Amino acid sequence: MDRALEIRPFGPDDDIEAELDLRRRAFGPISGADESTWVADMRDVIDAGQMLGVFDGGRAVATARYYAMRQWWHGRPMPMAGVAGVKVAPEERGRGVGRALMTRLLADLAAAGYPVSTLYPSTLPLYRSLGWENAGGRYETVIPAHALAALTAADPHLAPGPRPDAAAASGAGAASGARAASARAAERATVRRAAPADASAVIVALDAAHQALRDNGPNTRDPAGLVRWLDDPDHFAYLADDGFLSYRWADGHEEVYVEYLVAASSATARAFWQILGSHATMAGRVRACLAPEDPIGWLLAEPTAVTSRTETWMLRVLDPAQAIAARGFPSAVSLEVAVDLRDKQIDANSGLWTLQISAGGGKLTPAAGDTGRRALRLGARGFAALFAGVPLATLRQAGLAAGDDHADEALEYAFGGPAFMYDYF
Ligand SMILES: CC(C)(COP(=O)(O)OP(=O)(O)OC[C@H]1O[C@@H](n2cnc3c(N)ncnc32)[C@H](O)[C@@H]1OP(=O)(O)O)[C@@H](O)C(=O)NCCC(=O)NCCS
Repeated sequence: MDRALEIRPFGPDDDIEAELDLRRRAFGPISGADESTWVADMRDVIDAGQMLGVFDGGRAVATARYYAMRQWWHGRPMPMAGVAGVKVAPEERGRGVGRALMTRLLADLAAAGYPVSTLYPSTLPLYRSLGWENAGGRYETVIPAHALAALTAADPHLAPGPRPDAAAASGAGAASGARAASARAAERATVRRAAPADASAVIVALDAAHQALRDNGPNTRDPAGLVRWLDDPDHFAYLADDGFLSYRWADGHEEVYVEYLVAASSATARAFWQILGSHATMAGRVRACLAPEDPIGWLLAEPTAVTSRTETWMLRVLDPAQAIAARGFPSAVSLEVAVDLRDKQIDANSGLWTLQISAGGGKLTPAAGDTGRRALRLGARGFAALFAGVPLATLRQAGLAAGDDHADEALEYAFGGPAFMYDYF
């Protein structure tokens, strides 16, 4: 920065109109109900002390915020700071303001004890220079709505209860047999409409699902953050013990846009898809934010679902020892490897470490006095990408990993992947 600008938390007494103006100039127009919701969201963030501003004589010329979230790694949650709304007034760009703001935010997040942070980037160099790296994706699957009318039945050899051959023997056609089986399975799931008062129950259901599915990457927010969403009459939400569905109309009523479809059991998944498929009389397609390997591809009768990665998110591991201790690992993996980690921004992370993984858990401990040992060499960016399941083969080719490779294959299996999120912030 070329002059004395002050970086400090954006407080309740600072001018929220200045933040709204910055937001409009950085990300485009916002008005009406969207503006009211946005201002209410910002007030919550500001009250929680989670927005940083760069001030020129009391006027905000740049801001960035974070949300206190939890992120699931191989089915275990850890605190995660979700960074959003990084913006500098156009006339101040290219002078180091953004870098100064993000450098301070990084230090604040590390000091606050977050093991990890994520963000959706619109540009990479700034975040890379501070140790964030491409880590996971957000995936959308588009399905013709009519294709959801009859999901394939479970393999008859595996399904409990009476064999579906009975339906065939009674003269029912294959499609109506599949429809009946699908409806029977859906009936077994207890799915109900979710209201604002269900916010805590939604979090409990999502927790149960992410744990059961051993998910890598999805985040949850606190129940307070969900209430406004569940209260919006244009969002339709359904809750099961092991799942959550939320969707809205898009493109008039041509599309059903699914923000969340998380279901740990087959019965809940089928119940949710049946609700969505019931809109086929009005909607031409369902666009759903899903896990990249969501079972819908196996439930549809024809190859009509098209999945694409619509966004990439970056990860920063702020406290590697804490992050490794908090995440889950496949219980079949047992390994020990020396890791030579260099973190230019957070000195305490640099050094020679021993990474041990066994019995579904991990440990990263300093390998003091053992500096001659062969080690896997990583910077903060390589460590973040490995943590998110990016294969070491990829990281070596990208120049983000070097050194000892004896444990590469086991490490790739241990960290899994691909990581994904539903939430866009
Ligand atoms: C992206 C943004 C926050 C950067 O802030 P800034 O004050 O202009 O950035 P700085 O001057 O501190 O530069 C920091 C680094 O960002 C990168 N950078 C800056 N402007 C950039 C641009 N327009 N395109 C790509 N990279 C850019 C450079 O790598 C620079 O590093 P360097 O100085 O070593 O070359 C700012 O340009 C902005 O508000 N853009 C519009 C909103 C936006 O896209 N926000 C990001 C949302 S994820």
